Amino acid sequence: MKLDARVKERAKRLSPSARRVPFLLRSAVLRLPLVGDDLNRVGRCFRTSKRMHGYFELYDRHLASRRHRPLTILEIGIGGGGDASWAGESLRMWKTWFPRSTVYGIDVAVPDEIDERRIRVLVGSQSDVGFLQRTANEIGPIDLVVDDGSHLPWDTRTTFAALFPHVVPGGFYVIEDLQTSYMPSYGGGPPGVGLTTIALVKELVDGIHHRYFVEAGFVPPTPDPLVGAVHAYDKIVFIEKAR
Ligand SMILES: C[S@@+](CC[C@H](N)C(=O)[O-])C[C@H]1O[C@@H](n2cnc3c(N)ncnc32)[C@H](O)[C@@H]1O
Repeated sequence: MKLDARVKERAKRLSPSARRVPFLLRSAVLRLPLVGDDLNRVGRCFRTSKRMHGYFELYDRHLASRRHRPLTILEIGIGGGGDASWAGESLRMWKTWFPRSTVYGIDVAVPDEIDERRIRVLVGSQSDVGFLQRTANEIGPIDLVVDDGSHLPWDTRTTFAALFPHVVPGGFYVIEDLQTSYMPSYGGGPPGVGLTTIALVKELVDGIHHRYFVEAGFVPPTPDPLVGAVHAYDKIVFIEKAR
């Protein structure tokens, strides 16, 4: 049996009837040298949709070099829709892959029993600027924000405006599931329609270049030079804060 299959088999056998114990075991198994550092392997042992979307390789590309730092990570949308057996899996994956990190989650629907060592979930909406500001002030500078919440463009923009200023220089602000920008059910449509998240990505690229504009009066969505780079991929963007 191949190595990955063996690891998956082990993770399945350690299945979820007693949640905390399996997690501790899973964590221990995943730290064995045979599993290695690859998020593609570690991530497969957690029930997060990030795998199906093919995001692991990209997180690995941008963040593997800082895995062992004591990072502060904030993910919006913990998953599971309030069901304790599914909720918080991506938070546990971050906790395992970033072994010295503290991982915070924000969600409107949170079952009990999510918090554990190095994981804390705060109940609230990403559309509530006051809540986001209080959260950011409480948890301090953030190394990685992952927006995997409502995917409604007005929420995505509100959250970005509130939290990007709290990202450390060189840190990342990631927005997942950009395909929703093209879906009417998420306020999206064909290219050029409305204030979608894809349109925000374009505005950020414009912002990086605004000093070359001929017309006066262009106001970038976030002050240049705070956005250092915009790495856009299939369905996901990594916005890198300037150093
Ligand atoms: C796709 S799931 C997150 C999956 C999880 N991040 C993972 O990788 O497994 C989306 C989550 O966003 C939450 N959500 C929806 N609207 C929200 C809002 N306005 N504020 C915060 N969370 C929200 C939902 O309750 C749901 O848990």
